[in-house]
Amino acid sequence: PIGAQQWVPPHPRSIDELKPAAADCHGCELYENATQTVFGRGAPHAKIVFVGEQPGDVEDRHGLPFVGPAGRLLRDAVDDAGIDPAELYITNAVKHFRFELRGGRRIHQNPGPAHITACRPWLVSEFSLLKPKLVVILGATAGKALLGPSFRVTRSRGQLMPWPASAQHPEDFPVAEIQAIATIHPSAVLRADDRETAYRGLVDDLRVAAAAVA
Ligand code: URA
Ligand code: SF4
Repeated sequence: PIGAQQWVPPHPRSIDELKPAAADCHGCELYENATQTVFGRGAPHAKIVFVGEQPGDVEDRHGLPFVGPAGRLLRDAVDDAGIDPAELYITNAVKHFRFELRGGRRIHQNPGPAHITACRPWLVSEFSLLKPKLVVILGATAGKALLGPSFRVTRSRGQLMPWPASAQHPEDFPVAEIQAIATIHPSAVLRADDRETAYRGLVDDLRVAAAAVA
């Protein structure tokens, strides 16, 4: 893929300028089958930015991130962790839904490393405008997008990490004094055998996030 860079406005002043530009992005082939670009949304001066994987089926139809089942669970967890939803911005590492048609149903497929790399300029421009205090990394795809291919959720979750020292391309995230914390993806909670325990683990990690920006 050629990547998203040529669609990113050179000197955006606000997220509101990025969103319509991203709607036209052809940086990789995922735009071809998806309904629309699903850009990030939330407070323009959010202290905390959540980064998920990619929009799901419901998000693809509505054009907004985390409005389906995983989003509902995430909102509950944010609430239970005591994070003010007004201080959040939420986005995805990849902005188009990747799926496979099976018997007329759209089955989620993980984005590949090439999609993550292609879509990265959008994430970088979101970060440079938002300048968050803390980035919450939801699951392995977001972790690999931000911190490199060796990132493992199970090893890193629930711990505050410095940023961007550990990031794969520190030079392209022009944000100083930012921290990161990883946790499991809310979809992983929905799939877990023991949902209660998985949910409590997510909330515990988010409590660390809440304390970090308090
Ligand atoms: N899962 C994600 O990673 N992002 C969404 O927006 C929805 C589900
Ligand atoms: Fe552009 Fe990202 Fe969509 Fe690919 S997934 S077309 S890079 S917005």
